[in-house]
Amino acid sequence: MIKAVRGTRDLLPPDTDLWNRVDAKVRDIFARYNFHEIRTPIFEDTQLFSRSVGEETDIVSKEMFTWYDGERFNENKLRDAWLTANQSDDPAHLQAGRVIVEKHSSLQDQLTKMGILFVSRGVRIEPGPMPGSQFEFVAFAPQESLQAIRTLKNARELARSAPEFRNSAIHLLLIIPVEGLGRTPSEVDLKDVEVKAFPGTFFSSSQSLTLRPENTAGVVRAYIEHGLGDKGTLQKLYYIGPQFRRERPQKGRYRQFFQIGAELIGPASAGSESPARDAEVLEMLATLLDEVGLRDWNLQLNSVGCADDRARYNQALREALQPVVHQMCSDCQRRAETNPLRVLDCKHPEDQPIIEKLPKIGDYLDEPCRLHFAAVKAMLDAVGVTYSINERMVRGLDYYTRTTFEFTHGGLGAQSAVLGGGRYDGLSEALGGPKAPGIGFAIGEDRLIMALQAQGEQPAAQVHAFVAPLGEGMNAQALKLASELRRAGASADLGDESFRLKKSFELAEKAGARYIVIVGENEVKADQFAVKNLASGEQVTVPRAELAQFLRK
Ligand code: HAM
Repeated sequence: MIKAVRGTRDLLPPDTDLWNRVDAKVRDIFARYNFHEIRTPIFEDTQLFSRSVGEETDIVSKEMFTWYDGERFNENKLRDAWLTANQSDDPAHLQAGRVIVEKHSSLQDQLTKMGILFVSRGVRIEPGPMPGSQFEFVAFAPQESLQAIRTLKNARELARSAPEFRNSAIHLLLIIPVEGLGRTPSEVDLKDVEVKAFPGTFFSSSQSLTLRPENTAGVVRAYIEHGLGDKGTLQKLYYIGPQFRRERPQKGRYRQFFQIGAELIGPASAGSESPARDAEVLEMLATLLDEVGLRDWNLQLNSVGCADDRARYNQALREALQPVVHQMCSDCQRRAETNPLRVLDCKHPEDQPIIEKLPKIGDYLDEPCRLHFAAVKAMLDAVGVTYSINERMVRGLDYYTRTTFEFTHGGLGAQSAVLGGGRYDGLSEALGGPKAPGIGFAIGEDRLIMALQAQGEQPAAQVHAFVAPLGEGMNAQALKLASELRRAGASADLGDESFRLKKSFELAEKAGARYIVIVGENEVKADQFAVKNLASGEQVTVPRAELAQFLRK
C-alpha cells in the first residue's frame, strides 16, 4: 500500500474544520490591520534561499528539497564519447573488440532517423556482410527505456527485410550513461538487448529549483520584481500556505508544514524602519493569538543589532570561545568557526554553563540599534503586551537585523515555538533590490492547531439539520426542502428514503446535526415539518416558510 511520505500528513475532518476556523479568524484580523494577501509560488530559484536565509544555516545547508529542472540528456555527446572509446582508427585492420561504423545506403537513412548506429566488430576488409564479422545496432538513451528497446528491435526487423542481412545475426546494444543506472522503469524487459553503462556526464541542467522552506524570501523577491515599493508606500502582505523542510520528523515538526505569515516592507520614507512597526506587528500577534483562543503564550524578544554590531559580536564570541571550545560538542566546535552565533542555539546540557558565560549581544548594539530596541520595548509596555528578553534567542535564518522574536507555548513539548519573526532591514538589497527595511513573522499553523487542541479546543462545526425522507417518493421532496434551507443559509445534510426512521436518527447523530427534520407524505401535504432537537429530544412542528430561520436560531 502506498502511504503518505514520511514527514507529510493528511489533514482530515473534523480537524480541518478547526484549521478553517483559524484561517478565517486570521484573515479577518489581517483585514483589520490592513494587511493584504500575497500568493507566491511554492518553488523558487534555489539561489533565492541561499542568498536570503543563508548558505550556513541548517535550512539551506541540509533541509531543502532541491532538484534540477530542464535536465536534458545529451545524446550526441554520449554517442561521440562512445565512438571515440570504441571505434577503430584503422577500419582496414580492425582490432579485436573495436568497431567500425557500417555504411549501407539502403538502410542508413532509416537507421539514422531512428537514432541507431550500425557497427560491426571483427576483422574485415570490405564493407558488407562477411563471414566472421558481427553486426551490432547501437542505441543511446538516458536510461533503460522501453522506447529505446523497441526502436532497437524495430531496426533489426527492418534490416532483416533487406536481402543482404536476412540471415545475419544482429546484436542489439543499448548504451546509457552511468548516471542513468537505477532510473530504469520496472516494466522494461531487457531480453535480447545488452545494456552497457558508459561513464561521463551526459545530462545538462538549466536551473536549480527548491520547494520553499519559508516565505519571506519569496515575498521580498516579489516586492523587488514588481516594484511594489515604487509608490513610496508601505506594503503589508500576508500569506497562508505550505512550506517544505527536510527535517527529521517528530511531534510538531514536519517536512511539509503550514505557515501563516506576514511581512511589512517598504521604503524607509514610508516609516518601514520605525520601531512603531515592530510594536504594531507584535501587538497584532498578541491580538491574533488571543482571538484565535490560544492561552498562556510567551513572547521572547531580542535584538540582534545591525550587520556591524553582529560582526563585532561574532568576533567577541570567537575570542571567548577559543579557550573553551574544545570542551564543547562537535557541532559547537564547527559553529565556532563557521557561524559562532549558532553556538547560542546549542541544546547540549554540558555546554550550557559555558554558553551562559559568553558575551551578550545586548552589549554590542550600537547607539541607533539600542535606541530602536528601547523604543520597541517602551511601546509594548504602553499597550500592555508582556514579553521576556532572551538574549540567547538565535533565529535559524541569517537575514535578521535588530528586533527578533518568538512566541512559545507550554503545550507543545520540545518544538515549543508557535511562531517566529523579526526585522530584515538589509534583505531587499542583498537580493539586488532597493533599500526596503521590513519586519515580519510566520506562525507554524500545525503547531498553533496542536496547541489549541492541547487546550481542549473542539472543532465546532455543527450541521443545522439532517433532512430525513420517510417513505417512497420522498427523496425528491427532501432534496427540495434541503435546497431551500441551504439557499436560506442553513446547513443541511440529507438522508435517503430507503432508510428506516431509526437509521436516519443514527445517521443524523453521526453527522453531528442539531436537528432532524422528517419529510414524509403528511408533512409535505401540510407544508410543515416535524423537527426534533437531537440533544434535548424536544419535538415541534414548523411551517416550511419558517424552517430555515428556526434551525439557524
Ligand atoms: P521560522 O522560525 O523558521 O521562521 O519558522 C516560523 C515557524 O514555523 C516556527 O516558529 C514553527 O512554528 C514553524 N515551523 C518551522 N519549521 C517547521 C516544521 N518543520 N514543522 C512544523 N512547523 C515548523 C520563518 O520561517 C521566517 N520566514 C519567519 C519570518 C517572516 N521572519 C520574518 N518574516
